[in-house]
Amino acid sequence: MSKVLIVNSSIKGEGSISRQLVETYKDSLLKADAKTQFIELDLGLNPLPVLSASNINGFFGNIGESAEASALAETVEARVSELEAADILVLGAPMYNFGMSALLKTWFDYVLRAGRTFRYTESGPEGLVNGKKAVVIETRDGKYSEGPASIMDFQEGHIRTLLGFIGITDVTFIRSEAMAFGPDIKAAAIENAAKALSELAAA
Ligand SMILES: Cc1cc2nc3c(=O)[nH]c(=O)nc-3n(C[C@H](O)[C@H](O)[C@H](O)COP(=O)(O)O)c2cc1C
Repeated sequence: MSKVLIVNSSIKGEGSISRQLVETYKDSLLKADAKTQFIELDLGLNPLPVLSASNINGFFGNIGESAEASALAETVEARVSELEAADILVLGAPMYNFGMSALLKTWFDYVLRAGRTFRYTESGPEGLVNGKKAVVIETRDGKYSEGPASIMDFQEGHIRTLLGFIGITDVTFIRSEAMAFGPDIKAAAIENAAKALSELAAA
């Protein structure tokens, strides 16, 4: 039985394609093992507070008398613990302005914790979140996997780097892209991504 942490980061309430594909993957995982357990975060519906001067002390464990710092410390601990407890991490990752959603970037800001999820050694940084798989479901209107726009993809490399930095190197990227190129292309992109996710869950 696997424990799956799902992090959705679309800013859309209804009609999010990444959320739709995350649901497809979730259904396929349940088909493969009905006992699969899920913890789900929807950052679009419940955004994490961005790190700022008013709460950053909580990030470093200096809560003092600040309610914001104290709340942040609790939330950061909750997000790190649920990542540590998961076997599979699933990210619903729309592309916004050539990168990841700011909502997802804030989640990464929470879970990249020196001394907890990574550490520096004499030979450089070392990830401490080992033995996990990640599935990243990317949705984009343009096409970046090949062709002239591929140099504008600041999403996939950034996500791969952040995951790798904390030790998650078994990462599968599933893309639904070129979705603004026409209705048929969009439908095929979503269908192909859904098929790839079903196959991945069954493998
Ligand atoms: C604010 C914003 C910025 C976007 N920037 C890009 C972009 O840089 N490149 C791109 O291909 N699509 C871009 N899109 C399109 C989204 O990637 C596309 O709508 C995708 O379906 C979003 O995933 P979602 O449906 O789960 O929200 C942008 C959409 C929004 C709302």
